[in-house]
Amino acid sequence: MALWGGRFSQAADQRFKLFNDSLRFDYRLAKQDIIGSVAWSKAILSVGVLSVEEQQQLEKALDELLLEVQADPEAIAASDAEDIHSWVEQKLIGKVGDLGKKLHTGRSRNDQVATDLKLWCKTEVALLLQAVRELQQALVLTAEKNQDAVMPGYTHLQRAQPITFAHWCLAYSEMLVRDESRLQDALQRMDTSPLGSGALAGTAYAIDRDQLAGWLGFSAATRNSLDSVSDRDHVLELLSDAAISMVHLSRFAEDLIFFNSGESSFVELSDRVTSGSSLMPQKKNPDALELIRGKCGRVQGALSGMLMTLKGLPLAYNKDMQEDKEGIFDALDTWLDCLNMAVLVLDGIQVKRPRCQEAAQQGYANATELADYLVAKGIPFREAHHIVGSAVLEAIKQGKALEELSLAQLQQFNPAISEDVYPALSLQSCLEKRCAKGGVNPAQVASAIQTAKIRLGI
Ligand code: ARG
Repeated sequence: MALWGGRFSQAADQRFKLFNDSLRFDYRLAKQDIIGSVAWSKAILSVGVLSVEEQQQLEKALDELLLEVQADPEAIAASDAEDIHSWVEQKLIGKVGDLGKKLHTGRSRNDQVATDLKLWCKTEVALLLQAVRELQQALVLTAEKNQDAVMPGYTHLQRAQPITFAHWCLAYSEMLVRDESRLQDALQRMDTSPLGSGALAGTAYAIDRDQLAGWLGFSAATRNSLDSVSDRDHVLELLSDAAISMVHLSRFAEDLIFFNSGESSFVELSDRVTSGSSLMPQKKNPDALELIRGKCGRVQGALSGMLMTLKGLPLAYNKDMQEDKEGIFDALDTWLDCLNMAVLVLDGIQVKRPRCQEAAQQGYANATELADYLVAKGIPFREAHHIVGSAVLEAIKQGKALEELSLAQLQQFNPAISEDVYPALSLQSCLEKRCAKGGVNPAQVASAIQTAKIRLGI
């Protein structure tokens, strides 16, 4: 019998029951529901609904139930309870009889589910923060090992200016630093307890909600009961954080897929994160990275889905809100998996330095250097840009790099060019010149690595 069966004279249609029940996914809130129930039993003890002995008996039974859940979490799904809240209550009644029926006094599944999900989100944020930091560490350590690996940097997927593999790693580490701070922000905002808001108008028992919040590890109780049971901002925020970070991971994956392609051959991925083709024996496919890129889609979908679900919902609780769980469970699981997989990919990556260097030398990645060289000789940049454009055109015609043109040839473009142009066009000089904060100058990169290592405690 459902928790609410008294008002009904007909049983629910089985098809409706299947449609309505949420146990098959909200069983993941079992621990939070039990912990929340223990705290609630203490709250109603404080207003005399339970005696000390009754509360102790309930708490003991709930503690036992928690151990059972932890020993066999799958067992929950076998029950035909409507949702995790009904399941916990049924189990409790099974253990302590009628006393179990007192626990729901003054509480609603509306404030209960809001509390459970917030508690779950808080635990999940802790796991995600750790994973985000582990990926930052992997990026920074990979950067440290590859400070001398010069490669082309791209704009429009055209070779633009030389960079180092280290500098590329640090770019992604910066994105993850922001992802980390977004999670911290979200964590701070979700740190209020809805428990004691009742169905929507508040609980009719004069409990101390701030104290109750403290028992559950929240910093305070929410301020408005209507908002408390209707608010899913924490779900939206975490989905947004996941969506943004997955975009970062997807771009990371795409860059590496390209670097690993036969066309660039800048890196070799480990056998541990690649797979073969059933038909073409020569293939080594970057599946781990393609899946990271591919899984980005479902996380964006979860965010859009939840925004649409909440849009236009009248206050307060509506059953639509049950749709919050599958999306966030899947999105956060996916994000966590992808973060861990990215660490594994970096763990076995090999940068092919000679090939990277060769590519950096081609594609006129030092054209800006020639323009800067002319600027140093007193030619305005816009004019220098034009002169270099003509030099590049000529070099392309001759199938040569800029530094392969003779001095006489270069001087045809501008007489100010002299022998000292050649060192200025070297890759090393291109890197060293970019010495302002954040640039690819090797000393800048080394200091960025040091700063990141100190921040990460490695
Ligand atoms: N399973 C429900 C959910 O996840 C629990 C809350 C039910 N509340 C209600 N008024 N029917 O949203």
